[in-house]
Amino acid sequence: MIQELVKKFKGPFIWATVFSALSSILSISLITLVNEGVNAASEDDLRGLAGIFLLALLGMLAIGFFSQWLLAQLGTSLVYKIRLILLKRVLGVNYENLERIGGHRVLATVTTDVASIAESLSIIPIFAVNFATILGCFTYLGYLSFPLFLVLFTILFLGAGLSTMIMRKGEKCFTELREQEDGLFNTFKTLVDGSKELNINQHRRDFFYKDLATPNLDQVKSAEMSANFFWILNQNWAGSVLFLGLGLLVYIGSLVVKVPHEVLTSFVLFMIYLMGPIGFVMRSFSSVFKGKVAYQKIQSLNLFEHEQVEQRSAVQERLKDWQTLSAKGLCYSYRQEQETPFSIGPIDFSVSQGEVVYIRGSNGSGKSTFAKVLVGLYQAQKGELRLGDKCIDKDNIQWYRNHFSTIFSDFYLFEHILDKHGALVEQAEVQAHLEKLQMADKVSVRDGKLTMTTLSQGQRKRLAMILAYAEDAAIYLFDEWAADQDPYFRDYFYRELLPELKSRGKTVIVISHDDRYFHLADRMYQFDSGTAVLENQEQPQEQFA
Ligand SMILES: Nc1ncnc2c1ncn2[C@@H]1O[C@H](COP(=O)(O)OP(=O)(O)OP(=O)(O)O)[C@@H](O)[C@H]1O
Ligand SMILES: [Mg+2]
Repeated sequence: MIQELVKKFKGPFIWATVFSALSSILSISLITLVNEGVNAASEDDLRGLAGIFLLALLGMLAIGFFSQWLLAQLGTSLVYKIRLILLKRVLGVNYENLERIGGHRVLATVTTDVASIAESLSIIPIFAVNFATILGCFTYLGYLSFPLFLVLFTILFLGAGLSTMIMRKGEKCFTELREQEDGLFNTFKTLVDGSKELNINQHRRDFFYKDLATPNLDQVKSAEMSANFFWILNQNWAGSVLFLGLGLLVYIGSLVVKVPHEVLTSFVLFMIYLMGPIGFVMRSFSSVFKGKVAYQKIQSLNLFEHEQVEQRSAVQERLKDWQTLSAKGLCYSYRQEQETPFSIGPIDFSVSQGEVVYIRGSNGSGKSTFAKVLVGLYQAQKGELRLGDKCIDKDNIQWYRNHFSTIFSDFYLFEHILDKHGALVEQAEVQAHLEKLQMADKVSVRDGKLTMTTLSQGQRKRLAMILAYAEDAAIYLFDEWAADQDPYFRDYFYRELLPELKSRGKTVIVISHDDRYFHLADRMYQFDSGTAVLENQEQPQEQFA
């Protein structure tokens, strides 16, 4: 990602560096002019120098402003670009991996890590200029008096060595702080998601405040304090080394090396000037380390190892005539630290085009897990998934997923209604569905966007159904859709909605606990502890009733 960014922003990086360098050169010339002014032989010389000084000053004002403006633009553009890259990466990551990473970690990354990386990258030009300024000044000082320069260099070199050791400690604290911040995001997520329960139950609220949130905040505070301790120590150490260098220069320059007075004055002036650039370089190390920690954090999420988000134009045509969707010996196991993670399989399953298949089974028997494998959200570790004559693998999984429209029990209700080509649908197209599901007085659609007040759970599910309708998918999967519906709509779902989808040639997979309607299924699979059995077709229908 870093190479990609540096490549993309090569131009702005170069321009920002050039203008920062110009501004730095102008400020060095101002110092040189002051130095010459101090040592000027006559008043005329001094007047001549004053004119040049004013010109250089105006130049520095204009170029300084412009270079900082370029740097600010670079910083903002970097944040924008990194966010865009991460957004694409997160969209490209499999649901399975994203679920394992955890939403709070992704949130922490797109907020804190993006800012840290952008900050550390955007200081590169000014860092380069300051570094070059230091090198330039050192060269000049070496030219003025090499022995005195050697004294200065040795002091700074030894100081930088100790500084590096302090910074390494600081880096460790930053890594620890960043880990704690993940926990902090989780706490904030709980605060918002669990607000109902926290409002109602005072004991829970107290427990959350005292036993969960406060210890978390304490950990973040202590990690931040430790990190700050080392950075502040480093900055002060750097400042002290510079003054030590200055003092020793005067002492050694006058008494040991015995350089001429003008040379010593130049050394002192340049050293005072260099305190700015050297201080900046020291301070910028904290940003560089923060950026490094943030980058390592993003890397650890493995966002870069997965498939890229598909481009709109790359959406392939769905199969029209596929006859059968089948799974053979399908096995899936949750990858977890615990000793015996839940697993399903081997499962044999098939559904013909235009069939309505029901899946039933007790809580925790693996129905939803299987559904996620079947629609391609989870990748089976063993077995074969086929749509028509196409075997589903990594290369065609997105194409395969495009055949489905799903409503899981933890669905997300998007505000925009898209048709099967991904275009926004118009009010007229969904009006009939809105009326059919008695949602017309609650919801309106304008330019493909739903306008709605807060809805009940049952109403939200009906809207999700309208979104699924608009998608006009080939295969529908409903995971306990009717569970939140009133008796009228529950009946409507099983007796009218599903048969209507079937009559339109759609294939429907329904996960349900509503045994009153089981006899309406074309076929039924019974799940038990992760395995599936096809119910006997010959069974009398009353058994399900
Ligand atoms: N993301 C997950 N990571 C690890 N284990 C999980 C995950 N989701 C579910 N499980 C486990 O898988 C098992 C089956 O869950 P699943 O949701 O598939 O059951 P289900 O048949 O749909 O039950 P229900 O009727 O309650 O919806 C459960 O024991 C659960 O602990
Ligand atoms: Mg379930």
